[in-house]
Amino acid sequence: MQPFQTLNELAAAVRTCSRCHLAQSRTKAVPGEGAEQAEIMLVGEAPGFHEDRQGRPFVGAAGRYLEELLASIGLQRQEVYITNVVKCRPPRNRNPLAQEIAACRPYLEQQITLIRPKLIVTLGRFSLQLFFPEAQISRVHGQPRKRGGIVYYPTYHPAAALYQPRWKALIAEDFQRIPALLAQAASLPEDDPSPGGGRD
Ligand code: URA
Ligand code: SF4
Repeated sequence: MQPFQTLNELAAAVRTCSRCHLAQSRTKAVPGEGAEQAEIMLVGEAPGFHEDRQGRPFVGAAGRYLEELLASIGLQRQEVYITNVVKCRPPRNRNPLAQEIAACRPYLEQQITLIRPKLIVTLGRFSLQLFFPEAQISRVHGQPRKRGGIVYYPTYHPAAALYQPRWKALIAEDFQRIPALLAQAASLPEDDPSPGGGRD
């Protein structure tokens, strides 16, 4: 994939992308949206029904809940950057397949390069495991890990948490720590890269 100079250029490529089969069933691709200079990026799983219709991330029930979570720490969605692991809706909201995730991955990587966020909040298992393939969300949610100058901060997926009171409490707690984490991001040590040094 060619390197994109701007987020707009990248979004235009996503909208006409046919790198995987999801291109055939989507209504609109959902590149992501938010502040170009965002310090915080939120990465979900995949567009759902409403996102596919509108071409915008997190605009359904999960999106309203995500906005509530952001508001609880004094943030509006325009201040962060919101995107997904795969940019097109899987049919009937099934899980994205490994080949779809691999095909779409360069877009997310380039979004990260262009935005250069301090903090990436991974929402749910697919987003977490894109960066840390061995990690289990129930074990590592709420635990920051710094790699390549970026703090990765895993939490549950708002769509799942919405219907699961136990996760709802946990995701709300995890979000409460975001402002402090952001403030400490520069001084947080890099993850230990030695074998056995990770906390998977
Ligand atoms: N769930 C996601 O993971 N992403 C969206 O954009 C909407 C719901
Ligand atoms: Fe392209 Fe990603 Fe959509 Fe697949 S999911 S068609 S790789 S934008």
